[in-house]
Amino acid sequence: MSKDFLDRNLALEAVRVTEAAALSSSLHMGRGDEKAADQAAVNAMRDFLNNLVIDGTVVIGEGERDKAPMLYIGEKVGKGGPKVDIALDPLEGTTITAKGGENALSVLAMAEEGGFLHAPDIYMHKIAYGKKYQDLEIDPESPANEIVQKFSDFADMNIKNIVVCILDRPRHQELINKVRQTGARIKLISDGDVSAVIATSFEDSGVDMYMGIGGSPEGVLAAAALRCIGGRIYSKLVFSDESEKKRAADMGIKDANKIYTTNDLASGDVMFSATGVTNGTLLQGVLIKNNIATTQSVVMRSKTKTLRYVNASHNLTIKDIIT
Ligand code: FBP
Repeated sequence: MSKDFLDRNLALEAVRVTEAAALSSSLHMGRGDEKAADQAAVNAMRDFLNNLVIDGTVVIGEGERDKAPMLYIGEKVGKGGPKVDIALDPLEGTTITAKGGENALSVLAMAEEGGFLHAPDIYMHKIAYGKKYQDLEIDPESPANEIVQKFSDFADMNIKNIVVCILDRPRHQELINKVRQTGARIKLISDGDVSAVIATSFEDSGVDMYMGIGGSPEGVLAAAALRCIGGRIYSKLVFSDESEKKRAADMGIKDANKIYTTNDLASGDVMFSATGVTNGTLLQGVLIKNNIATTQSVVMRSKTKTLRYVNASHNLTIKDIIT
């Protein structure tokens, strides 16, 4: 069996993993229990990952070992096989799911060993835009209004038509003011910046740019997707205290002020799979009707740039959903 054949099989196996996690967490939709929704996704994802013919190491996971008992950073998964590094978020959008909101996803990315930045679970400042404009180079540390202006000039778009997606957080008030000053429009989201970054590369999403501070694991996952579909992300770790700097240093981060680009976050041959938990811009969520659960997933690979949508129906009289 050639290595390539194995890799291609792995893409479809990856979908089964995110489907399982999405199905499990979807049973907790709207129940107001974020932890239970996340735990269900973790249980299912771990179970399915351990059935894969890989020698996997979780490098972006549920947290550091002392805080996360399952799918922690450094956990080995799989039955043995090619060495792969894994970045995962069994449930991206725990609050969204607990409230029955939109855009919750189950996400998994795989890369060759060393392909993902070993990012600590802290905040990261991110600026991203889609495939069509990926040749635009900016100074990510320049004021937000200048960046939006530069994007508008490069894209040859009237600035009033540009939509910037930003997480709705008090920490973003200055950013929001600066973007509004330019005349650009803003889409404020409650959670879920992996899907927001990816949306910049989907022309019909209605989002042109993503800006702001979110989780750094989510930054690596979003970069993995952009490596497959095109687009550019700039990012920089945001440290709230010295202990976070130490954690980062322990994980191999030498320069705390480094600007990470798409390739710094996710390099080499990368595979990305996501399944919708709740309906969203990119994917439909899990729908259960008459003992049939339907899922929608997208799986993509950087090497071939193939993007596949997988619509599946799961017969719940035959198959159990892991809870
Ligand atoms: P969870 O699924 O872990 O709750 O993350 C959701 C999310 O909105 C991410 O998409 C985003 O990167 C991060 O949380 C933002 O963090 P915070 O809620 O602390 O602003």
